[in-house]
Amino acid sequence: MAKSEILEMKLGKVFEKYSFARNFFEENNLNIDGQEGKSITEFLEELDEDYKEDMAIDTESILSSFESYINMMKEFLGIEDNAVESLTLIAGHDKFGNPEGFDEFTINKSEIISIVGPTGSGKSRLLADIEWTAQNDTPTGRSILINGEAPDKKWRFSSNNKLVAQLSQNMNFVMDLTAMEFVKLHAESRMIENIDDVAREIIDEANNLAGEKFSEDTPITALSGGQSRALMIADTAKLSSSPIVLIDEIENAGIDRKKALDLLVSQDKIVLMATHDPYLALIADKRIVINNGAIAKIIETSEEEREMLKELEKVDELIQSMRSSLRYGERMSASMITDRFVK
Ligand SMILES: Nc1ncnc2c1ncn2[C@@H]1O[C@H](COP(=O)(O)OP(=O)(O)O)[C@@H](O)[C@H]1O
Ligand SMILES: [Mg+2]
Repeated sequence: MAKSEILEMKLGKVFEKYSFARNFFEENNLNIDGQEGKSITEFLEELDEDYKEDMAIDTESILSSFESYINMMKEFLGIEDNAVESLTLIAGHDKFGNPEGFDEFTINKSEIISIVGPTGSGKSRLLADIEWTAQNDTPTGRSILINGEAPDKKWRFSSNNKLVAQLSQNMNFVMDLTAMEFVKLHAESRMIENIDDVAREIIDEANNLAGEKFSEDTPITALSGGQSRALMIADTAKLSSSPIVLIDEIENAGIDRKKALDLLVSQDKIVLMATHDPYLALIADKRIVINNGAIAKIIETSEEEREMLKELEKVDELIQSMRSSLRYGERMSASMITDRFVK
């Protein structure tokens, strides 16, 4: 690489990525107000020559100290640049040692993949392989490549800026904190600026997902399964910068899974979700079918299947409305169904 990327990046982008970078300009008495559309190189090049001379500004040395400042701070804060373009699964074997039904499967940024298969077939295992970035060192013998290469082991242990955000089937909170304290603690560790606003948003989003509402003063140990799931989902959506999101059977959590998915899936991520839910399975671009611990096949969602999503949504609405009627002691009527489905 001829020139470091950071020196060519627009300052607005640099500050978005590394909010600490502003300090560098302050410390060096460089006024960058209104210069966010330029890179540091452009900014320095466009400074008046006489001014540079008067202020003893040496472009080359500023550029190189800026670069090392960013690198040092990144290391200090434990920030990784996690631009993940693709994730590749390299086949292992099933529970009996037979090879899997594929050789290699690459998932690109922005793709949603569902994982289907009977209970006990190995769906969670596949997610765990990805989370661990397996290198033929798990029971399945699979390997995971990131951007076509065996990933650095640092991904496994860095806690600040993880490769993978995982929403697992079980959430056990042991800390004695209120929902608000928990979210704030997490927000602080992510070093974001407007902690109070973000924490509020997370609690609101979680309440939007959860069937029963909870308050910010509710101890996290007192949250129901659905509420704690909702909190983790909202928290992940707002605070995690992980490029890969793994979701294990959210449909059983008593939360609005469609809203949850909308919240979690942002354009440039790779999303894998294990599910028994036809709606979630078909919303994906492709689905991985697991059997006996192995990937048996990979199916692309067809146009016809996509069309079915609309009908499935109606089925969903029906179930939701019946559920709520039941809760409030109402009787069911056949018209609930016929109004929706009979033409
Ligand atoms: N290829 C494999 N080889 C050996 N054990 C496997 C394999 N795939 C899955 N398992 C094991 O089978 C068990 C059930 O798998 P799991 O992923 O929990 O199933 P699911 O999530 O589909 O219900 C787990 O103990 C898992 O580690
Ligand atoms: Mg499972």
